[in-house]
Amino acid sequence: MHKPPLSLTAAGLLMLSLLITSCGSKDPQPDSLYVRMGSKVGIESITDQLVANVGAETGMANSVMLRSHKPMLDAVNGVNGQPPTDPTRLTRLRNNVVDQFTSLTGGPLPYTGKSMLAAHTNMQVTNAEYTAWRALLDQSLTTNKIGTKEKAEFTALIDAMKADVVNH
Ligand code: HEM
Repeated sequence: MHKPPLSLTAAGLLMLSLLITSCGSKDPQPDSLYVRMGSKVGIESITDQLVANVGAETGMANSVMLRSHKPMLDAVNGVNGQPPTDPTRLTRLRNNVVDQFTSLTGGPLPYTGKSMLAAHTNMQVTNAEYTAWRALLDQSLTTNKIGTKEKAEFTALIDAMKADVVNH
């Protein structure tokens, strides 16, 4: 039987081990916040519930969220019967939030959206709006049955970004 030269066998083994190592490095740590929050399905569900909570709030009388979200809602829905100027803007935002929450918690997706400062500049988000948004995020974490410890860890990561979001 034909045997490959030793160097070829060694090169093959090296490539195999590199492949295994690089695949392994993409896997989230089993004890990462990402895994403890339900991995991809969990993060997507938390994000979708947050988007739904904000959407419900913008529709209420005396909405706190409506002012800051109006440009986005107008772009998605159109104004005065005009066609939407950017119908996929909400979907892009949702996907960027999923990526951001994923990378923030030690998951495998990088966040490639705008920096928090750039994303919220000229939006003039007030402290009260931030507090209202955070309550809607808390509600989503509760709806998704995220544990007390994970909730505290996650919201600490979120609140660390508050200074880049508020009053710009
Ligand atoms: C630390 C808290 C927050 C985080 C982590 C966060 C995260 C994000 C992310 C990832 C994006 C998408 C950026 C992109 O597409 O490149 C975004 C956009 C946006 N955020 Fe926030 N956000 C926070 C707080 C808030 C608050 C308090 C408000 C308003 C009350 C708000 C309103 C918006 C709006 C309206 C957009 C869409 C902008 C657009 O489409 O042009 N965000 N946010």
